[in-house]
Amino acid sequence: MVEIFSSSGRFHIHGHRRWLTGRIPAHRAFLIVLWIVGFFLVFIWQRSSVSDSGARMNFWLRAPLYPVPKLRPTAFNLTDFGGVGDGVTLNTEAFVRAVAQIATLGSQGGGQLNVQPGFWLTAPFNLTSHMTLFLAEGAVILGIQDENYWPLMPALPSYGSGREQGGPCYASLIHGQNLKDVVITGHNGTIHGQGQSWWTKFKQKLLRHTRGPLVQLMWSRDIVISNITLRDSPFWTLHPYDCKNVTISDVTILAPVSGAPNTDGIDPDSCEDVVIENCYICVGDDGIAIKSGWDQYGIKYAKPSANILIRNVIVRSVVSAGVSIGSEMSGGVSNVTIENLHVWESRRGVRIKTAPGRGGYVRDISYNNLTFDNVRVGIVIKTDYNEHPDEGFDPKALPTIERINFKGIHGQGVRVPVRIHGSEEIPVKNISFKDMSVGITYKKKHIFQCSFVQGRTIGSIFPSPCENLDRYDEQGNLVKHSVSQNNTDVDYDF
Ligand SMILES: *[C@@H]1O[C@H](CO)[C@@H](O)[C@H](O)[C@H]1NC(C)=O
Ligand SMILES: *[C@@H]1O[C@H](CO)[C@@H](O)[C@H](O)[C@H]1NC(C)=O
Ligand SMILES: *[C@@H]1O[C@H](CO)[C@@H](O)[C@H](O)[C@H]1NC(C)=O
Ligand SMILES: *[C@@H]1O[C@H](CO)[C@@H](O)[C@H](O)[C@H]1NC(C)=O
Ligand SMILES: *[C@@H]1O[C@H](CO)[C@@H](O)[C@H](O)[C@H]1NC(C)=O
Ligand SMILES: *[C@@H]1O[C@H](CO)[C@@H](O)[C@H](O)[C@H]1NC(C)=O
Ligand SMILES: *[C@@H]1O[C@H](CO)[C@@H](O)[C@H](O)[C@H]1NC(C)=O
Ligand SMILES: *[C@@H]1O[C@H](CO)[C@@H](O)[C@H](O)[C@H]1NC(C)=O
Ligand SMILES: *[C@@H]1O[C@H](CO)[C@@H](O)[C@H](O)[C@H]1NC(C)=O
Repeated sequence: MVEIFSSSGRFHIHGHRRWLTGRIPAHRAFLIVLWIVGFFLVFIWQRSSVSDSGARMNFWLRAPLYPVPKLRPTAFNLTDFGGVGDGVTLNTEAFVRAVAQIATLGSQGGGQLNVQPGFWLTAPFNLTSHMTLFLAEGAVILGIQDENYWPLMPALPSYGSGREQGGPCYASLIHGQNLKDVVITGHNGTIHGQGQSWWTKFKQKLLRHTRGPLVQLMWSRDIVISNITLRDSPFWTLHPYDCKNVTISDVTILAPVSGAPNTDGIDPDSCEDVVIENCYICVGDDGIAIKSGWDQYGIKYAKPSANILIRNVIVRSVVSAGVSIGSEMSGGVSNVTIENLHVWESRRGVRIKTAPGRGGYVRDISYNNLTFDNVRVGIVIKTDYNEHPDEGFDPKALPTIERINFKGIHGQGVRVPVRIHGSEEIPVKNISFKDMSVGITYKKKHIFQCSFVQGRTIGSIFPSPCENLDRYDEQGNLVKHSVSQNNTDVDYDF
């Protein structure tokens, strides 16, 4: 259902009709005719797909499986504002009118906008406070692919420039700033970014600005996002920026596991009091990446990510990691709990990444009950992730990494269970491992890799930990002092 709603096809048809009226050599005319025949075959196929989806839509409209609950005193359907869910009509105006109507109801408990089954093509639009966006089963909001419809916004203050290119960035498909009490929920309806054309243009260097996320809420509070599917975002999928009190639960996030660059699942960025639970994430970059600004801009903005709980989450990330912290963490990241996390068929399980120039800190991070199932590297800490917004960063701004606790680390099919790459400038302090047993694929030495690490292991740890760590028994008695915390035993070759 992805590319078929592209409007560019029609322009091509008219263009070629005009060519045919001119003088064209025979072989070329033949090629053109062949091209047009091929094109019409595709076109007819597209049309029938659209009417298939129309038929499906009518089917759902006639027999809704679940009645839409009323979650606000006043509820509307998108069709009340002229919305047409045929996959080709542009519904931006309908969304804008609906949101404007709901914005008048704030003092009366706000309003609910129901998106019924169907395919609702739209350009980016803003939400409002005291609003519930409800996506019925079979409802698909489709982001328009033509980037000329995507407004630009200034770079985020804590990043100083677009993450990919200087200057302004594309806004998100669904956006909001300075809001309060926003709910996006449903019966597992979908927000579909149709990211394919963005990824292709990005790879071909045809975009002049940083791509936009699928859903981005900024400077907002009391946000609930639940029971929906987010699919094929142009860029990061769900980006809460400088928000407070955010709950994300029962959300499915999907993008191709390769060839979908930077399609992180959820990026809590300078956010406080965040819960992410019962989510399934399978994307082309990090499943979850906790951030707080980039180098000198993030240090100046000084807004940490704190009090974050991630639990009962399943992630697959073939090119990156299940759950990351950083690399942009210049405002600091603290008090994060990650539990009952299952990472499968991925490059890395969990990762903390930073670099000189970032400043800030990563501290008081607890990982409990992690399962790695066919993961190349299980636990990664990397302190030389050198990507900077510009030359103005301060190489002496060194991040602190401390009080990182791992408890109950299991799994199978892991190549390198641990790779903690601290450095002389950025040592990793007070790390602990308790109850770890990970099935490994290569019975080599040096698969529990450490450098510039201080900390301890408690009880039984498999595979055998690096010499940098003190070893304690289950009762808390010291068994063996570390040989040298500054031992460097990191090998990226396996
Ligand atoms: C929305 O549409 C459904 C049919 O799909 C109808 O049952 C319901 O009454 C409508 N609700 C509103 C608020 O118009
Ligand atoms: C969304 O709201 C922001 C902040 O008020 C504004 O700058 C932007 O233009 C709005 N975007 C759209 C598509 O209306
Ligand atoms: C929601 O939809 C997605 C995508 O179709 C599917 O993978 C997921 O299992 C669904 N979730 C539930 C709870 O039905
Ligand atoms: C957090 O947001 C939820 C949902 O809006 C709300 O029910 C709850 O009261 C908020 N909590 C705080 C501490 O504000
Ligand atoms: C969301 O899904 C969960 C789990 O399937 C369910 O318990 C909850 O009632 C759902 N919420 C809504 C608003 O449908
Ligand atoms: C840490 O975060 C949790 C939520 O995950 C919160 O309940 C707790 O109060 C926070 N602790 C501190 C010291 O702020
Ligand atoms: C550990 O997490 C897995 C999911 O990854 C869950 O099935 C299991 O029940 C959890 N174990 C405990 C002791 O909570
Ligand atoms: C290490 O951190 C723990 C909390 O995670 C704290 O209780 C302990 O005192 C710290 N130890 C050292 C040597 O700093
Ligand atoms: C290890 O490196 C740290 C700096 O990262 C230094 O303070 C410490 O003295 C070194 N320890 C040894 C035993 O060389």
